[in-house]
Amino acid sequence: MSGPNSDYDPVEVAAVQPEEVDAARDAALAAIAAATDLDDLKRVRIEHTGDRAPLSLANREIGALPPQARKDAGQRVGRARGLVGQALAARQEVLEAEHAARILVEETVDVTLPTDRLPLGARHPITTGSELIADIFVAMGWEVAEGPVIEAEWLNFDALNLGPDHPARTMQDTFWTAAADRSGASDDVHGAGTGVVLRTQTSPVQARTMLSQEPPIYVVAPGRVFRTDEYDATHSPMFHQVEGLAVDEGITMAHLKGTLDHFATQMFGEGVTTRFRPSYFPFTEPSAEVDLKCFVCLGAGRVDGTNLCRTCKGEGWIEWGGCGVVNPRVLTACGVDAERYTGFAFGMGIDRTLMFRHGLADLRALFEGDIRFSTAFGTEL
Ligand code: DAH
Repeated sequence: MSGPNSDYDPVEVAAVQPEEVDAARDAALAAIAAATDLDDLKRVRIEHTGDRAPLSLANREIGALPPQARKDAGQRVGRARGLVGQALAARQEVLEAEHAARILVEETVDVTLPTDRLPLGARHPITTGSELIADIFVAMGWEVAEGPVIEAEWLNFDALNLGPDHPARTMQDTFWTAAADRSGASDDVHGAGTGVVLRTQTSPVQARTMLSQEPPIYVVAPGRVFRTDEYDATHSPMFHQVEGLAVDEGITMAHLKGTLDHFATQMFGEGVTTRFRPSYFPFTEPSAEVDLKCFVCLGAGRVDGTNLCRTCKGEGWIEWGGCGVVNPRVLTACGVDAERYTGFAFGMGIDRTLMFRHGLADLRALFEGDIRFSTAFGTEL
C-alpha cells in the first residue's frame, strides 16, 4: 500500500518561469507600442493574447502546477496578462483617436469651393426675339399663326398674286423640292403652280390663315424661310421673318401705320416710330417699304451732335421690312369677300431686326451654334 506522495517534487514547466513570463510580457508590450494603426494592433492582440500566445499557454499551465507553485505562477502570469491587457486598451484608445483625427483631415469638405454646376443652357436669341415680337402682338389681342416650311408653291406664290410668270418671282431665289407630295398644291385654282418649295417668305401663312378662318383675322407669324442666297455676313440661305395680317371691315393703311409704330416703340423704345416709302409687292396694293427711326440717334443720323451714328450709318432710318394693304386679288384667292373686308399685311426679317437691335456685325453668329454667343442673350426675355 502506498502512502501519500509527500515528497513529490514538481518541476515547474518552462512557460511559467519568471524569465519566460517577463520575456513574453515585454515582447507583447513592445509590439503594442510599435503598432502604428488599428489593423496592426489587432494583429498584435491575436499574437500576444490569443490562444497560442505564450502568456495564454502559461496561463493554461497554471492549473497543472502543484498547489504550492500555483499561487506564485498565477500571480506572475496574471500580472503580466493584466499589463498587456491595459497596454492594449491604452494603445487602442490612442490609435482610435488618431484614426478619427486623420479622417477629419482627409475627408474634410471645403464647403466654400465652387460646385461642379452643370452649365445651364440658354434659349437662342432668335427664339426669345421671336417670342418678344409675338408677345407685343398678343398684347394687342392678336393670335400667333404657324405654317410648314415645306410649302405648296401655290400658297407661297400663286395665292399671293405671284403667278408663274410674275416677274417678282425671280426676286425670291427659290429652293424647289422634288414634288413627291402635291397634296398642298391645287391644280384647279388658276391652273397654277403645283410644285413644292421651301417657303421663301412667311407670307403663305397669310393665305393659310384666310383659307382656314373667317375674318376678323389678326395674326402674327414668325418663322423660318429659305432662299438660295450665299452664306455671308449679311445673307443666309435660311433666315427668319415675321408676318403680320389683319383682315376686318374698314381696315385702312392708317391702321397699318399705327400698328407698326406701336410695334417699333414696343420693340425699340419711346420715340422710335416708322416711315413708309412707296414700293411694290404683288400681294399688297398700295405697298410700302417700312423704315424704322434709328433707335440710337432717333433720326438725327449723328450722335453727340457730331459723330456719324454707326447703327443707321448716318441715315437716321433703318430699312425694316415691307407692308401694304392686302391686294383684293389675294383676299379673293383665299376665299375672303373682298367687297366686305379689307386688310393690311407686313413682313420683317427677324435676324436683321436682332442684328441692329443688338449691334451684331455678322449674321452668321446667329446660326453657328456657339453657346458663348447664345448664353450672352440667355437671360433676355
Ligand atoms: N414677303 C415679303 C418678302 O419676303 C415681305 C412682305 C412685304 C410681307 C409686304 C408682307 C407685305 O406681308 O405686305 O420680301
